[in-house]
Amino acid sequence: MKNPIKVAVLVSGGGTNLQAIIDFCAEGKLESGKIVKVISNKEGAYALKRASDAEIPTAVVIKKGKTQAEFEKGLIEELESAGAQVIVLAGFMCILSKDFTDRYKDRIINVHPSLIPSFCGEGFYGLKVHEKALEYGVKVTGATVHFVNEVPDGGKIIMQKAVKIKDKDTPESLQKRVMQEAEWKILPASLELVCKMVIKGEI
Ligand code: GAR
Repeated sequence: MKNPIKVAVLVSGGGTNLQAIIDFCAEGKLESGKIVKVISNKEGAYALKRASDAEIPTAVVIKKGKTQAEFEKGLIEELESAGAQVIVLAGFMCILSKDFTDRYKDRIINVHPSLIPSFCGEGFYGLKVHEKALEYGVKVTGATVHFVNEVPDGGKIIMQKAVKIKDKDTPESLQKRVMQEAEWKILPASLELVCKMVIKGEI
């Protein structure tokens, strides 16, 4: 692709979803996009090492001690300096304001570890999502990739994949399987789809 869409990935932790995107790129499957920067809100996040290993520029924007507007101004500066056109939230554990999501309407995607509208919204993140799914006793869970708007986990759904729950599952075993069977597949695939839609002027 001559002019791939410039993609920034926002992270907070281990970055296995970032790794899935990096691997997808290395396999030549991200045809319509290119990762131009990885931004973390946490210093020392392992995701930053994954980015450096893949020779992707990184930045850290800390939330602590800043207002939401100041924090987002810092993010926007980093996004603009990289020329980012599409933003991926890959385990990014910060809520973004309406001002921010409006600025990047249909340009931010997020991966969430459940089948939205189950086990989602404020307070549902990371391992907690799987604890709640097991507590409720659902037999099927999964992952969702969706556009990000001002409602936490409330934007239009792009892709979903179901994962069966096993009797012996713990939150940790379920988290691992949801990542392997669902998140790491649908996040890179959704990114390619969204970049292609941007190129075609469909969104
Ligand atoms: C992933 O399971 C992701 O779906 C979840 O956090 C984990 C991050 O892992 N995100 C949320 O819960 C957002 N609401 P990673 O850093 O290894 O990609």
